[in-house]
Amino acid sequence: MPEEPRDVAGGSRRRFLKWATALSALGAAVLAGLPTLRAFVSPTFKKPEGKRWVKLGEADLFDVGLPPTKVDFSETVNDAWLESRALRSVWVYTEDGEQFIVYNAHCTHLGCIVFFDKDKRALHSPCHHGLFEVKTGAVLAGPPPRPLDSLEWKVEDGMLYCAYQDFRVGIAQKVSV
Ligand code: FES
Repeated sequence: MPEEPRDVAGGSRRRFLKWATALSALGAAVLAGLPTLRAFVSPTFKKPEGKRWVKLGEADLFDVGLPPTKVDFSETVNDAWLESRALRSVWVYTEDGEQFIVYNAHCTHLGCIVFFDKDKRALHSPCHHGLFEVKTGAVLAGPPPRPLDSLEWKVEDGMLYCAYQDFRVGIAQKVSV
């Protein structure tokens, strides 16, 4: 009996179409997944931000001597995938209106905001009664493990700026976060 002719051309066309379909499905899946992958991975590899100079006010207008001046401001914070506004506070002290000391207002014990205590003439953390010397930030009393965190500052065109940074609390070393 004569053998039936095989559809060689039809078979290879079907194989080609199968491969082409599989490849285009794979391509579409990769393309669709890229933005999602980038959104998950990019915050992890984001470069740390540089210095954030914050304008605190006209240098001439800060009181000389005690009491120090508290300056509050808010800034946008990007925490991985979330963007939010955060309230910040610093204390500014100057003895001559030219040289400044700027402290991050967070207590170095557990991060409460410190306030100026008029009677003790010192910066006081109300949470566990930590007490800090205004001129040096040194711990006078209580559990704080290190002095207040001083910040870099500069005066430009008559304006006082500080390079705001937060630091880890509860440890003796000043480690930025
Ligand atoms: S948070 Fe300041 S003393 Fe505990």
